[in-house]
Amino acid sequence: MRFSHGAAAFLTALVLPSCSGDEPFEAPAPVPEKAAPPRSGKEVYMLLCATCHGETGDGKGVAQLDRPARSFLDGGFSFGNTKEALYRTVSNGIGGTPMPGFAAALSEEERRRVVDYVISLGPERPPEAGDAAILEVGDRPVVVRGQFHPLASGQAPITRGVLVGTLDGLSWLYDASDVRLLAVRQGSFVKRTDWSGRGGTPLELLGKPVHRSTSARPAFSRTDSSSPLRARLRSTRLDGAHAWVRYELLDDTTKLATLRERGEAFGTLTFSGYRRRFEVTDGGSGTVAMELSAAPAGESFVGKDGTHWTPTQDGDRWVVYGVRVDGREDASAIARDHGLAARLDLGRDLRWTVTTLVLPDAKPESLAKLKEEA
Ligand code: HEC
Repeated sequence: MRFSHGAAAFLTALVLPSCSGDEPFEAPAPVPEKAAPPRSGKEVYMLLCATCHGETGDGKGVAQLDRPARSFLDGGFSFGNTKEALYRTVSNGIGGTPMPGFAAALSEEERRRVVDYVISLGPERPPEAGDAAILEVGDRPVVVRGQFHPLASGQAPITRGVLVGTLDGLSWLYDASDVRLLAVRQGSFVKRTDWSGRGGTPLELLGKPVHRSTSARPAFSRTDSSSPLRARLRSTRLDGAHAWVRYELLDDTTKLATLRERGEAFGTLTFSGYRRRFEVTDGGSGTVAMELSAAPAGESFVGKDGTHWTPTQDGDRWVVYGVRVDGREDASAIARDHGLAARLDLGRDLRWTVTTLVLPDAKPESLAKLKEEA
């Protein structure tokens, strides 16, 4: 609608209060700035993805990467083919590769739009033929127990495993006999070859490993003697969007505490990985060491939220561990003879997080960048 000059003046006269005498002039309340309208999938793609994945989606972007970005022209995604799986990949990134997560940089709407755009770059796909043997995580976490195929060839199968699939597209495999976290994977969830025989045939893990625990040691040990503590699985519990694994920690037969833990994807602007949250739910006593990794390979630093980060090296990349204990500034990882551990006072340290970031390389610049972001 357009107003003639006269009509505009008339409207102004109606709207503006008349200022008379020394009545204070009240500035009109600031009009809240409208959130920018979401950009189209293509706009987002050209702005944030094309440097690595190429303007046409052929995977040949201008960015120099040690590991090529993916071409989207042929369809077929190794971290899951569904829209939801792609959304999770774009939100959380892929640990250990240059693919960053965009949860902080893009709104949900824009992430969904860019996913649609990425799909549109590929061939027109026939409607997905659902594989009845594949179990995927929907809008609630999923827990399955059973026997699992070995994680690597030549290894023994995992006879009693607990696999937790979380909403962020990660899956967490625990050994039920000692509640050790054996592997964190990303992508599709699990395949069962025989749904009828309960636990008869081993389950096949889908997705790709984000990180595999290299330690055969139990997760917890005594701080004084390094002798391992026992963990006994009590239950797994779904609590809304979260899945908790609850277990008792025992020194011989003495119960030190009941703990629960859950995992979630975690990333900075550039780097991806995962975070485990721990809580003492019952009867904490004693000081214990929680094993994290092999020996540190660089100086520790403290992040903005108080997380103490310590780099380690795993082959040709950095794996950086972060420890943060609620209400404790001084808590940090400690180096022990066999590696890096977190020292915890179960009576006082009721909640803590352990974060693992898997960097794509082992360059000093990458650590410097993490220091800025973390
Ligand atoms: C810094 C470079 C970089 C940027 C920026 C980047 N990616 Fe990636 N992306 C990669 C690399 C490298 C991979 C392959 C990771 C691997 O080795 O599996 C990848 C993988 C992916 C995958 C997984 C494909 C699969 O097989 O499941 C998707 C989806 C994806 N990127 C989407 C995007 C989108 C959408 C954007 C922009 C919002 C984006 N990427 C920005 C580097 C990048």
